Amino acid sequence: MLLNTQVKTYLQRSSWIRKMFEKGAELKKEFGADKVFDFSLGNPDLPPPSSIINEFVKLKELSSKPLALGYMPNAGLPQLREKLALFLSKEQGVSISREEVIITCGAAGGINALFRAILEPKDEVVAFAPFFVEYGFYAENHNGILKVVKTKEPDFSLDLGALDQAIGEKTRAIILNSPNNPSGQVYSEQEIKEIADLLRKKSQKFGKPIFLVADEPYRFLVYDGVEVPSILKFYEFSVVVSSFSKSLGLAGERVGYVLVNPDMPNKQELLAGLVLTNRILGFVNAPIIGQYLLLAGLGSLVDISVYQKRRQLMGQILEQAGLEFTWPKGGFYFFPKAPNKQEDDFITALLKENVLAVPGKGFGFPGYVRFAFCVPEETIKRSAEAIGKAVQNILEKY
Ligand SMILES: Cc1ncc(COP(=O)(O)O)c(C=O)c1O
Repeated sequence: MLLNTQVKTYLQRSSWIRKMFEKGAELKKEFGADKVFDFSLGNPDLPPPSSIINEFVKLKELSSKPLALGYMPNAGLPQLREKLALFLSKEQGVSISREEVIITCGAAGGINALFRAILEPKDEVVAFAPFFVEYGFYAENHNGILKVVKTKEPDFSLDLGALDQAIGEKTRAIILNSPNNPSGQVYSEQEIKEIADLLRKKSQKFGKPIFLVADEPYRFLVYDGVEVPSILKFYEFSVVVSSFSKSLGLAGERVGYVLVNPDMPNKQELLAGLVLTNRILGFVNAPIIGQYLLLAGLGSLVDISVYQKRRQLMGQILEQAGLEFTWPKGGFYFFPKAPNKQEDDFITALLKENVLAVPGKGFGFPGYVRFAFCVPEETIKRSAEAIGKAVQNILEKY
């Protein structure tokens, strides 16, 4: 017995991820990488903008200076926090100062630092399905429980009646991911206002604040002029978590942040807690190279016109194949309904045609399939026939 029972169960629960990965490797070996259409991974493939690449070259000189790569302040480089606070003030439309921003190891590290700071054992975090699969693990890492509320079909808009029902005395936080991975939905200002009103009422009823957490790594990537409203203006017990993994092509460098609402009563307590949890979870400080790169590159972006083009292409291919879906308002995923909602059969039929996608059950929303379009345009174009055949295969069967 090398593993605890919880981790053993996790390994079984996420075995489909491993299977998919192994199957992909197998197919690529057998048929050649160019004959396999891998839409399973959300690993952003665009290179960082030149501001980051140029800084990377300069860092060689800096690295020979004493302590340049040493331990850093747990909350992040002060000059980066300052610059990020200015950037976020503009982005969120709220005046933010550097004390309210903690630099973390990506959004993932930020969410973990936050949950470690706020959850009592068995406290609940509510997420809307479909949701980023890691939320369940992150809540349980800190003795919490993820409670799932489904969004409405076919457009994945929020079901606020169901949220009302789901909130109880153990509810500590609601996590809202917009633009959403995998649905591509962006929640409206009206929906956020309604959540805020509900949380105010419930916080009063249960005698403690319920946090609203916005997870926003895809905020920079929206289509057709859609805007992502800030939650900070509408609810004082709110926290924004995000990163530069996607917007600057820096996923491996692990830089992100937690931003605490400047209007939150007693915010210093939460901020001090976050600096401590970022440290004691073993992150210590976000990677320093990533922080230097961000300091130079903040404000620039990967070439998002590439994603716009790919979205158009992929959408056309899925439409031609006869799949039902809502066009994503943001992010780089399509989440179509599997023909006749036969998700497992559809995944198998896709695999037969060398197409890899992720089943909706992995996001708490069975009956659907996720295609990530952070792959070259050529791959998308060449996948059209294979996706069409897989859909036909299922339709003939049912
Ligand atoms: C919705 C969502 N949240 C958080 C993350 C974590 O990203 P990172 O830790 O790289 O910032 C991801 C990564 O794919 C994501 O899709």
